[in-house]
Amino acid sequence: MEILIASLSLLTLLVVAILIGTRGRPMRFFTAFVETMRSIWANRGPLVWVTLSVFLVMGFLFFYYGLPAAMVGPAQPIPFSHRLHAGHKGIDCRFCHPYVARSIHPGLPPVEKCLYCHNYIIANHPEIRKEHDYFNTKTPTPWVKVYYVPEHVLFNHQRHIKKEIACEACHGDVKRQDRLKGQRFKMGFCIQCHRERKVNLDCWLACHS
Ligand code: HEC
Ligand code: HEC
Ligand code: HEC
Ligand code: HEC
Repeated sequence: MEILIASLSLLTLLVVAILIGTRGRPMRFFTAFVETMRSIWANRGPLVWVTLSVFLVMGFLFFYYGLPAAMVGPAQPIPFSHRLHAGHKGIDCRFCHPYVARSIHPGLPPVEKCLYCHNYIIANHPEIRKEHDYFNTKTPTPWVKVYYVPEHVLFNHQRHIKKEIACEACHGDVKRQDRLKGQRFKMGFCIQCHRERKVNLDCWLACHS
């Protein structure tokens, strides 16, 4: 989303610059541009080929590595996939996240949860071996947290889950993501739904410590 907004504003800026530069006759810019390109092409030397290949390589790198990386979340210590577990295998969210409805700090699943299945399923997979190492050395898996509220906000899942608000309403389509992208929730996001659902907005006092 941010990428879209950034590129749209860049495009608008470019159009405005061209309109001002050509005093309202944008076609002049394009004919001049085409003329310049044509003359460069007609007198092409090694420099043109070098520039062209650099652009091609950079374009390839951008579309091959840059774009996909911008669309998924941070790498995790173990490449755990919600798409595979919650989506394809249909494991219930509550099985791994039982404390969301009960605790203010629900936390992420402990290794034991994973080993419940992975003691038997693909137990020798190198990534599962890592889980065994974490278990044997009693180290909590250093998962990278991806959803945030600002420090002064007190968020509690309980009230929301009791009202049967789906996880997806706030976390998006988790079941279709391999690496969760996450989000830093802004106040507008909370307020908007509270307005729609006619939650007492005085409660806003309850959200700030
Ligand atoms: C009303 C919005 C909302 C709903 C509905 C919701 N969440 Fe959350 N969730 C949040 C927010 C906001 C945070 C970040 C809270 C924080 O950093 O203290 C969060 C954090 C989490 C975390 C990380 C907790 C941690 O300790 O790091 C997990 C796991 C989670 N949610 C799972 C779920 C599951 C599973 C459901 C459905 C049963 C669900 N959430 C429904 C808003 C929601
Ligand atoms: C309810 C059972 C179950 C639980 C719990 C479970 N998994 Fe899995 N996991 C599976 C199944 C089934 C597969 C697919 C195995 C296969 O490919 O044959 C799998 C595959 C994987 C893979 C391999 C993916 C790949 O690309 O090959 C990893 C890594 C993984 N799980 C990590 C975890 C972690 C980390 C946890 C704990 C948070 C966990 N799993 C909890 C059932 C489970
Ligand atoms: C097999 C166990 C498993 C299942 C099932 C599962 N999760 Fe997770 N979840 C994890 C693990 C492990 C992490 C930490 C690694 C990560 O972020 O990918 C996590 C992280 C999260 C987070 C990010 C918390 C943060 O801030 O880092 C949210 C939100 C979440 N899960 C929601 C869900 C929802 C919604 C479902 C059901 C559709 C679900 N999970 C099903 C294991 C599971
Ligand atoms: C998808 C809709 C939705 C979103 C998004 C949402 N809420 Fe709520 N929230 C509700 C509903 C509905 C209630 C009323 C629950 C009840 O009546 O018990 C509620 C209740 C609350 C309460 C308790 C209010 C009281 O009267 O004590 C707090 C605090 C709260 N939300 C904080 C937040 C924060 C912080 C966020 C943003 C991170 C957020 N909510 C996002 C729907 C939402």
